[in-house]
Amino acid sequence: LDTFDQRVAALCRLLGVGLMAGCQLNTEPGGATVEDCTNPSGNFFVASGYVEVEPGVACPPARTDLELTFLGDCCPVQEWQGVTCEFVQRVVDDLPVTSTDTDWSTADTGQRPEITCEYTGVFKTGQACCGRPLLAADGHAIVAGVRVGTAWITTRTGAARVDLERPERENVAAYWLGAARLEHASIGSFARFTLELLQLGAPAELLRGAQQAALDEVRHAELCFGLATRMCGEPVGPTALNLDEATSVSASRADFAEAVAREGCVGETLAALDAAARLVGTTDPDVRAALEAIAEDESRHAALAWRTLRWLLSDDADGTVRDRLRHVFATQPMPDPALAEPTPGERSYGMLTQAEQRRVFADGWQRVVLPAWVAMVS
Ligand SMILES: [Fe+2]
Ligand SMILES: [Fe+2]
Repeated sequence: LDTFDQRVAALCRLLGVGLMAGCQLNTEPGGATVEDCTNPSGNFFVASGYVEVEPGVACPPARTDLELTFLGDCCPVQEWQGVTCEFVQRVVDDLPVTSTDTDWSTADTGQRPEITCEYTGVFKTGQACCGRPLLAADGHAIVAGVRVGTAWITTRTGAARVDLERPERENVAAYWLGAARLEHASIGSFARFTLELLQLGAPAELLRGAQQAALDEVRHAELCFGLATRMCGEPVGPTALNLDEATSVSASRADFAEAVAREGCVGETLAALDAAARLVGTTDPDVRAALEAIAEDESRHAALAWRTLRWLLSDDADGTVRDRLRHVFATQPMPDPALAEPTPGERSYGMLTQAEQRRVFADGWQRVVLPAWVAMVS
């Protein structure tokens, strides 16, 4: 399974949405209707933001088709298509500081415009997230520091020559070191997941999956620290992981469902596709072996997360879990692509271009995450 589309198809099959039309890339514009303003259904959702207009120009009439380009806080530029429900024109100085976690800006300047039409609209597409983090209460990913040492080096890393000059080699080393720290933190994320499952009386099948997944993450961390070591020329591993800021075990079923959706259903699905996309341009055998293992395992972890949601939804008489998940799948932020474009040499060691990263995020969302969510609630 070394092409991106094969991995998408495999994930769809694994998540039981292989036969749904939703597993095709949805490129049709619009699609939302004014009815969705009051009663959003399926993968439509209502959101607020603004569009720019020239001074003296009225806002677009309410309830028109609208195509917006959106640059989020942690997001690549993304086309949003939908129907506007309401518009209010204001001068930017009058605007309150936004209370959402989304930074609405114009795509071309990155600045807030002077005259804005604030709107509420209903939109079709969603946003996605990054990796599979161990989250702090404020939403940032907790990772350990890096230290020199061989405690996490278990493979024959360091043996094969790295065919890169210094700046490229440093870029690749930095990427794999970052990946290693995230994989290492994922072990902690699964440890918390295990405690949450126990606290909610989950079946043995889910506990077994959680424990096996944690072991997979140990292996991923070893693989990535191994690659970083090879690129750095010096053995590297994690420092102690400071858990002071880590979120504690979820207090409710809805909180747990939200964490599973963000970290597992979205994070691990995108992680599997990210690895598959990196394989396309990668020629180095050690990097390929690591990416293949990660793509395979993260697919399984994604499936575990979706099974967990199904289990939570099976006992949700008052709809609390379902409502929370509806919100999560409507508001999940898109991760940042890396700022620098890799050279061809760097690409053979697992680096992706910005366009490829955006494709991973957008395709993962449109072709796998949303169809799986729609299949679960329909
Ligand atoms: Fe992993
Ligand atoms: Fe994982």
